[in-house]
Amino acid sequence: MINRTKTNRNFSVVVLSSSGGSNFQALANRQEQNGFVINLLICDRDCDALSKADRLRIPKLLIEKKRYPKTLFRLIDQSIPEDTDLIVLAGFLSIIDREFCRKWQNKIINIHPSLLPKYGGKGMMGVKVQEAVMRAEETEAGCTVHYVNEIIDGGDIIAQKVIAVDYNESPWELGGRVHKEENELLPKVVGMLAKQRKSR
Ligand code: GRF
Repeated sequence: MINRTKTNRNFSVVVLSSSGGSNFQALANRQEQNGFVINLLICDRDCDALSKADRLRIPKLLIEKKRYPKTLFRLIDQSIPEDTDLIVLAGFLSIIDREFCRKWQNKIINIHPSLLPKYGGKGMMGVKVQEAVMRAEETEAGCTVHYVNEIIDGGDIIAQKVIAVDYNESPWELGGRVHKEENELLPKVVGMLAKQRKSR
């Protein structure tokens, strides 16, 4: 019997970034094998992710936060196709607006370089995260993919990757290893969500 709820339409993804774009690149590299397609990259500032989009031939948009501090999320929202299945925050630094969050509820995910709920929240970014991990003498570090709600880094956790902390390393080196794990985890999670949608 034909399952009429199934659709052959691609699982469509929009990526938001403010940074180097290694997670965006990792997603782009694995989109075909994981059953999703990145339709658009939106950046809120000039950053390396933009030139990666050029090389990957993925449409991109720069909506600068400094030019549109009050209307940033309205403009971002207007640029996202209504039938988008998932918005992926990959190194996106602007704090998500409540209205945007509500509109796209359960359709926004974020990647964070710690084992949430530890070492998340405002200001917890970059090397600060791994510095805090090492200061607390944690034995484990890692990364988390989670749904985005109005609480910074506070939405439901979808997946985590745990690695051992090596105290011969600097926080920067630990951060580098976590970053590599992020690049593996994020495409897998998006692939998993695409698969779930298709089997519904
Ligand atoms: C990653 O560490 C991610 O967890 C954090 O911002 C960083 C972005 O890295 N939210 P990249 O730009 O994807 O390389």
